[in-house]
Amino acid sequence: MRNTSAWISGSGPERGRAAAVGTCEKSSRQTDALTLAEPKRRGPVGCFLSGAIGLLLIASVLTAAPAEKTLTCATCHREQAASSPLTPMGIGMELPPNQTSLKAHPQLAADWKGYRYTVERKDGVSVYTVSNGAESLQLPIRYAFGVRMQTYVFVYQGRYFESMMSYYATLGGLAVTLGDERMEPKSLLEALGKEYTETTISRCFGCHSSGAVAGSKLHLETLRPGLDCEHCHTGATAHLEALAQGKTAPLPEKLGEKSSEEMSTYCGGCHRSWEEAVRLRLWGPVNVRFQPYRLALSKCFIGNDRRIGCTACHNPHRELVRDTKFYDAKCLACHAASGSARPVAATHGVSAGPLQKACPVASENCTSCHMQKVDLPGGNSKFTDHYIRVVRPGEKYPD
Ligand code: HEC
Ligand code: HEC
Ligand code: HEC
Ligand code: HEC
Ligand code: HEC
Ligand code: HEC
Ligand code: HEC
Repeated sequence: MRNTSAWISGSGPERGRAAAVGTCEKSSRQTDALTLAEPKRRGPVGCFLSGAIGLLLIASVLTAAPAEKTLTCATCHREQAASSPLTPMGIGMELPPNQTSLKAHPQLAADWKGYRYTVERKDGVSVYTVSNGAESLQLPIRYAFGVRMQTYVFVYQGRYFESMMSYYATLGGLAVTLGDERMEPKSLLEALGKEYTETTISRCFGCHSSGAVAGSKLHLETLRPGLDCEHCHTGATAHLEALAQGKTAPLPEKLGEKSSEEMSTYCGGCHRSWEEAVRLRLWGPVNVRFQPYRLALSKCFIGNDRRIGCTACHNPHRELVRDTKFYDAKCLACHAASGSARPVAATHGVSAGPLQKACPVASENCTSCHMQKVDLPGGNSKFTDHYIRVVRPGEKYPD
């Protein structure tokens, strides 16, 4: 996210982790049948693909001709490949002509500190204009960051700017960009937006897109909006290439084997790790969007218990679930249901640990009371406080 300079200084995406080379030693089943170059082999399909989907996919790989040319992640990981690109993380930003909120709002305007801002769509392009009454500056919007909230990044005369105005779905219109409330622009160029160095702006691209950053240099010509598989699964491309040649190794690291602590650090590469939140000394409700930090404050957070890891509640390939009931089973994987002695069978392949206390008040919709929605100052939106706790009426936001 943006421009509290603090956020910008984020460490960027987690990359460069060594890809773990998986093997199939544990399995007694054969592995060589995955050799795609030999489509006649239809024996046991190897230890990797589990379940009916796997079998179905392998069958379709083996009948495809020629298999090598059509091999993509979707060939074998159909479920993830179908949903991941449609999530906010998969989208990350929008380029023309696929800018949904800009298309839906061909005319936007706002007045702020003596400047007039408009975003108008002409011939399929949205143009951002700032004027002070006497003169104006106009730039086409190419990089629209975010989904429900959008901020535009401009490359103007070889310099980089983040738009002073952002689109907020909650308002259905423009308002000052989060963190810029106190700016006092002295010129049209300053009113256009905040200027950033290439290093800083490349971090925006590093967290919201793929293929655009090498070192701290921007390579916009190879930009792919959103997080693609390789962005999160370092080594996936090598895995695909190996498979195309009939080899089973290397495999990407199995991220699902991370402990809750490791997963927080991993997601925190973009969502902010505990260390970063503490180092930046961002206190008060502004830190509500740093979920790894908030979650770690909870008594529920046990660093080596995957039932409280980010992916126990969120499938990174899918849309965020907004139904509170969905999360009940996640809590009840550790907590006793009211009136019952045992936790619900643990989710996420981890066996149930010791039973935690039951709620004396309610037996469902746990998150509605214990994970509060908090207004993000200046953000025109609410975030979910991942500090799971008994929230006392009127209490101060606990850091
Ligand atoms: C360290 C990684 C990181 C960097 C750097 C970063 N962002 Fe983000 N950004 C995120 C994450 C993670 C979210 C989602 C926040 C959430 O929902 O908790 C986000 C959210 C946003 C949103 C709101 C999206 C929505 O749908 O609500 C916008 C707009 C945005 N970022 C723009 C930018 C811009 C512009 C820059 C550079 C000036 C930038 N971000 C830099 C990680 C980053
Ligand atoms: C020909 C089929 C095939 C293709 C194509 C393929 N994979 Fe895989 N992938 C596998 C198999 C088999 C495994 C091993 C699964 C296991 O050991 O449980 C695997 C493992 C993985 C894992 C680790 C899974 C885990 O359990 O954590 C990831 C991540 C992954 N693949 C991502 C990708 C991505 C991304 C692509 C595209 C760049 C891709 N794969 C292309 C077959 C394929
Ligand atoms: C490479 C950076 C990156 C990593 C790593 C990352 N995220 Fe995100 N995530 C983002 C960005 C950017 C957004 C905001 C996308 C937008 O709205 O444009 C986001 C948004 C989200 C959202 C909000 C979706 C919504 O509907 O509002 C969830 C939930 C989420 N991420 C969970 C996770 C989890 C869990 C992990 C770790 C498994 C993770 N993220 C790792 C960058 C990242
Ligand atoms: C935002 C980061 C992110 C993106 C993007 C992403 N993955 Fe994953 N993926 C993960 C994480 C984290 C896990 C471990 C999930 C868990 O803990 O259960 C995972 C797990 C997997 C697995 C193991 C089975 C499972 O679902 O748990 C496969 C296969 C996989 N991913 C394939 C893909 C493919 C293919 C793509 C691209 C279409 C992709 N992933 C995109 C983060 C990501
Ligand atoms: C990994 C297991 C685990 C999960 C999952 C879990 N908790 Fe907990 N929770 C604990 C532990 C351990 C404690 C501390 C118990 C103690 O102090 O006796 C705790 C304490 C609590 C407390 C009391 C906190 C306080 O400040 O006294 C509440 C409320 C709570 N959990 C609610 C939830 C809710 C709601 C969820 C789901 C959103 C959840 N928990 C998920 C393990 C878990
Ligand atoms: C015990 C369950 C649970 C765990 C663990 C969990 N979350 Fe969430 N998360 C939720 C709930 C509930 C929501 C709100 C869903 C809704 O909007 O109704 C949420 C929302 C989010 C959002 C959307 C923005 C917001 O704040 O509303 C992001 C991003 C996110 N979580 C990231 C993470 C990350 C990163 C981790 C790991 C550090 C994590 N979550 C761990 C339950 C969980
Ligand atoms: C209507 C709001 C509400 C809902 C819904 C709710 N709780 Fe609670 N919960 C509370 C309140 C209030 C307390 C504090 C009670 C007290 O201290 O007298 C509490 C206390 C707790 C405690 C601490 C118990 C102790 O003995 O210290 C746990 C654990 C807990 N809730 C878990 C859950 C779980 C799990 C769910 C979902 C199954 C849930 N809560 C649903 C309001 C709620």
